[in-house]
Amino acid sequence: MITVKDLNDLSGKRVYVRVDFNVPQKNGVIRDTNRIVAALPTIRELADKGAKLILMSHLGKIKWKEPDLAKIEAMKKANDMAPVAKALAELMPEHPVHFCPATRGKELKDAVDALKDGEVLLVQNTRYEKGEEKNDPALAKEWASLADVYVMDAFGSAHRAHASTVGVPSILKEEGKPVALGFLMLKEVANLTKCVEPEESDRPYIAVLGGFKVSDKIKVIDSLLKKCDKILIGGAMAYTFKKALGEKVGSSPVEDDQLDYAKRCYEEANGRLLLPIDSVITDKFEDDGSGRIILTKEGDIPDGFEGVDIGPKTRELYKQELLKAHLVFWNGPMGVFEQEEFQSGTIAICEAVRELDGHAFTVCGGGDSASAVKQFGYKEDFSHVSTGGGASLEMIENDGHLPGVDVLK
Ligand code: 3PG
Repeated sequence: MITVKDLNDLSGKRVYVRVDFNVPQKNGVIRDTNRIVAALPTIRELADKGAKLILMSHLGKIKWKEPDLAKIEAMKKANDMAPVAKALAELMPEHPVHFCPATRGKELKDAVDALKDGEVLLVQNTRYEKGEEKNDPALAKEWASLADVYVMDAFGSAHRAHASTVGVPSILKEEGKPVALGFLMLKEVANLTKCVEPEESDRPYIAVLGGFKVSDKIKVIDSLLKKCDKILIGGAMAYTFKKALGEKVGSSPVEDDQLDYAKRCYEEANGRLLLPIDSVITDKFEDDGSGRIILTKEGDIPDGFEGVDIGPKTRELYKQELLKAHLVFWNGPMGVFEQEEFQSGTIAICEAVRELDGHAFTVCGGGDSASAVKQFGYKEDFSHVSTGGGASLEMIENDGHLPGVDVLK
């Protein structure tokens, strides 16, 4: 597979770059520009080589099944890409950045035709098009017709087989046009491949999994059990496992339809799947100002209380396991880290990684855990913090395969 480094003679060439600018934003205020910054090396490389850049990305979700057209319009408005173009222009003042509010038709074609060498055009949210998520052939054909070269640098979207990530490159490849990987993709794939194909020297390989639902993580748990030495479980999904093993979990969130899976999975893991031995519990999830009871509890959780974080004994147990590791993959917070009282479990994982001090290769697989790592100031302690939550999980689940990468091969 070729990379942006291999692309030369780009003067006058229209280069379509799929980026992942799906950044957290509200009312046009971007809370985190990390994903934009992560794509800059590829954009700069191509612009410096004289390319005319067409950047495509989705932003948020547009639920096209919604029958009320006014609601669809509201979703579009809430996910307008214009503020992202402004942020990109500020981060990259050396190259002119234009924004095209149209996703198809003459307005888009004219905007591409108007580009000069080294200039950048960010196109409106790809999900403004109903056909994007269905990989609609006509839409992919129209977008492909705008480009001479395709570059994939949207790691966070590489697990989506959409028109902008799979339809366009398959057409361009068939037409014999160059298709290449960007710098961010190369870095992400190389680092996550270590977690997909561990070597003997990587052992013990410890995975830490948290988050809300067991059902979201079944495939990744099954895959990690084949690859890892141990999996440390935290977050709300721990309570489904605990209930499946006959413990009382009070009003903790539980997926009753996953109890059989959880029990079977725990038994088959044969001691390699660790569950919290104690929990931080509370009688009120939301603090409404009237005060709430917060306790640490081992074993059964009483009625009226729910688990919201791993407890101190579990924090110590997980830390000791992590300190033995040579390879760590982490996805999903250990507790409700958005609330100060329930941050300790997630911070304990960060602290253990800091204590490893580079003696292990440590990967934080994006999503909420990556936000927590950043929020608590531990980003530099990890060997790699991924820009893609869903994509890094799918890469592990599917033994390194991602549709947005496989299409380029
Ligand atoms: C992400 O944020 O995980 C990616 O941008 C993919 O977004 P999606 O889950 O809405 O497809």
